[in-house]
Amino acid sequence: MSIETHSRRGFLAGTASAAALTVFGTGQLSAMSAFATPSKPSAEGNFIPYGAAVRSDALAADQSYREAVIADCQLVVPESELKWLELRPTPDQYRFEKADAIVDFARQNGIQVRGHTLAWYGALPKWTEQIATHADAERELIDHIETVVSRYKGAIPSWDVINEPLVDWPESAASLRPSIWAKRLGPDYLRIALETTAAVDSDARLVLNEYDVEYAGERFSAKRSALLQLLRSLRDRNVPLHAVGLQAHLFASRTIDRDGLQALLTEIKALDLDVWITELDVIDRDLPGEIHERDKLVADLADQFLQTVYEVVRPKAVLTWGLSDRYTWVPIYFKRRDGMPNRPLPLDAELRRKPLFDVIDEFRHKA
Ligand code: G3I
Repeated sequence: MSIETHSRRGFLAGTASAAALTVFGTGQLSAMSAFATPSKPSAEGNFIPYGAAVRSDALAADQSYREAVIADCQLVVPESELKWLELRPTPDQYRFEKADAIVDFARQNGIQVRGHTLAWYGALPKWTEQIATHADAERELIDHIETVVSRYKGAIPSWDVINEPLVDWPESAASLRPSIWAKRLGPDYLRIALETTAAVDSDARLVLNEYDVEYAGERFSAKRSALLQLLRSLRDRNVPLHAVGLQAHLFASRTIDRDGLQALLTEIKALDLDVWITELDVIDRDLPGEIHERDKLVADLADQFLQTVYEVVRPKAVLTWGLSDRYTWVPIYFKRRDGMPNRPLPLDAELRRKPLFDVIDEFRHKA
């Protein structure tokens, strides 16, 4: 795979003439410039698009998984390939080949792509810790966003520009998660990231993506309040933002706060912001082991969440954080104590549809 090394100026000038790329499994080359993604023709009419986070290595190596993505997804989002850690091994290198391969695969199959993510505390390469000044941090963040967003202009129509900006138990919107961006730029990093993205691609939908706003409990209520305060402050300063992403990593051990979540959604709507369900899955660590019972409980929790949302707002899309249990992040942190594999996603590890698939499919066809 080619590693593209660019001086920033040279790269920006040369973006449009970027090299060709191999599409997964077909061996065909496709001109990078033909990134514009035709939307998948749909006989389904007015439905909520469904998609999933995907992995470039699995798409390249696993034909049955690739075929399942093509069959079931109208959208995909690179699970890691558009993060700084994958894109930026050194300050002067951009490694686009993995992200390009996903974008090209999606284009070849009429699937839309979401971008994830431009400003996050996570998945940052070590060298970013050395960013020493306000000016350096602003330049690095702006250059990265200008380089990445301009490359995929027309191919990635929505970006998680800001990901997980708040600490887990925030006192207010000022309780920003520690990161090099917050450290060097303070809360202004959100404005810089959003304004830069809008300046590069005025058509892109800009999303602020957050988790843990779905549940009952003091901590989650605090997060909902802080998120709302943050959204209002961005709105009051006319910072460009179009939507809120609810990650919706649902924990079976927690209770969905219907009133709390619906109050948040009502306020988000009042701010004229759309809602995306961006990373839905169900952490089944504490559910019974028996597979049919567990799959039913997973589906019921997702159904309860989706119905709670839908009573207030029709999401722009529903994405799960993976399509199949064959490729899920969940066991990294939430392995089951009985040692059984986690089953958080719509397809099982053999790519068979589960009740969660049917719940999402029924939901997205609501008028
Ligand atoms: O690519 C390397 C590989 O070369 C190496 O051999 C391997 C072992 O060290 O690591 C691989 O990188 C891993 C990467 O996923 C790609 O698979 C990282 O270690 C691992 O930390 C990374 O985890 C991802 C995590 O975000 C951090 O970026 C998870 O797969 C991904 O599901 C998770 O996704 C996040 C969203 O971005 C934000 N919302 C929460 C969600 C779940 O944590």
